[in-house]
Amino acid sequence: MSETKFNTDHVEQLEVSPARGGAGSKVKRHCARWWWVHLIIFCASFLIIALCLVYVAMPKIAQDGVDDASLEFTELQFLNPSATSVTLTQRAILHSPSKFTPTLDSFNASTFLVTNGTFGAAPMIFVTMPSIHVQHPKSNVAVEDSKVMINNMDQLTNFATQAVAQEYVSTALVGETTLHLGALPTVKINYNSTSKYKGLNALKGFNVTGARIDLLAKPGQQNLKGFAYVPNPSLMTIQLGNVSLSLSTEKAGKVGTTTINDMTLKPGNNTLPLFGTMDQAKVVGSLDGDGMVELLITGTDAIFNGEHLVYYEKALSANVLKLKMNVMQVIKDSSSGSA
Ligand SMILES: *[C@@H]1O[C@H](CO)[C@@H](O)[C@H](O)[C@H]1NC(C)=O
Ligand SMILES: *[C@@H]1O[C@H](CO)[C@@H](O)[C@H](O)[C@H]1NC(C)=O
Ligand SMILES: *[C@@H]1O[C@H](CO)[C@@H](O)[C@H](O)[C@H]1NC(C)=O
Ligand SMILES: *[C@@H]1O[C@H](CO)[C@@H](O)[C@H](O)[C@H]1NC(C)=O
Ligand SMILES: *[C@@H]1O[C@H](CO)[C@@H](O)[C@H](O)[C@H]1NC(C)=O
Ligand SMILES: *[C@@H]1O[C@H](CO)[C@@H](O)[C@H](O)[C@H]1NC(C)=O
Repeated sequence: MSETKFNTDHVEQLEVSPARGGAGSKVKRHCARWWWVHLIIFCASFLIIALCLVYVAMPKIAQDGVDDASLEFTELQFLNPSATSVTLTQRAILHSPSKFTPTLDSFNASTFLVTNGTFGAAPMIFVTMPSIHVQHPKSNVAVEDSKVMINNMDQLTNFATQAVAQEYVSTALVGETTLHLGALPTVKINYNSTSKYKGLNALKGFNVTGARIDLLAKPGQQNLKGFAYVPNPSLMTIQLGNVSLSLSTEKAGKVGTTTINDMTLKPGNNTLPLFGTMDQAKVVGSLDGDGMVELLITGTDAIFNGEHLVYYEKALSANVLKLKMNVMQVIKDSSSGSA
């Protein structure tokens, strides 16, 4: 009995390990015979994943990379204006947080005015953006001396008005382009990037310096000269042409006009010669007790090569400058011949 029992135990013990070894060798045998099926499945899966990455994930990664990039303007020039066009130079830094360094093809970008986050109804101008080789973290983008036609006069006028009046303005570049990254397939990209930059901030700090009045001039003749001091805190250079300004006082209404020839506002402080006509009697009639007069100054005309630049005229006329002038001092300076 005890011997049999021993045997049974022994058999049971023996059976345990061969049972495990049998399953293992079955898998081994299966693999040995069907290895090629596994290889095909592996390759197919790899291919599907790779294709998904290239054709599904990669376009999204590329688009996200472009969406995360931002354009910081460093220079904007609006030169050689006409009633229908302007010559644009725009230099910017493209900040790209993505580690990828793709190339964006040149494209036709609509430039929109963005007011409090809302896009204007139509592009003000179209700008041909150059091909950009995007670097990490930043690359330079430049459009040089590009003559652009005005696409929508209302939008450009709104832009000029905001650029003169506001501390900041926002514009967006929108367009469709293609992106290349190494040997990967070309990806379609929607470019849509808003940039915020400084405006002229209502020409705060405007002043007239070195003012002289010709006390002997006949009525209606040019009798005023001096310098307009115009701070420009923005990165914009704006050629406005020959600009006429209307001078008035609260008490007397219009008291004169003055002209700044070829008024070009560059970034920083601008000192520009002005000349004009002032009705001395009306100005003297508007003096306060301290010999000061508060002039209200409004742009009326901006003329370049004989053409009225209506978009600048409206922008300037919307911005009323107030300037306290020490008229008694100006008269004193003028008669002492220190002109
Ligand atoms: C840019 O696109 C606009 C609107 O589609 C078109 O009117 C204009 O001619 C295009 N400009 C260039 C340079 O292709
Ligand atoms: C934009 O928002 C500011 C402040 O919220 C407001 O004063 C201004 O009038 C708005 N501008 C326009 C054009 O709606
Ligand atoms: C660009 O993005 C803004 C939101 O930032 C959106 O309002 C506008 O419709 C977009 N424009 C295009 C053409 O995709
Ligand atoms: C304008 O300039 C005059 C003299 O050049 C100066 O006395 C005056 O303080 C200035 N006014 C403003 C508002 O800067
Ligand atoms: C412009 O002049 C103001 C003082 O009127 C001065 O504080 C500022 O630094 C000047 N800006 C430049 C760019 O020279
Ligand atoms: C400004 O006016 C002067 C004198 O009338 C003229 O010679 C000059 O060409 C005008 N400048 C521009 C930019 O139109």
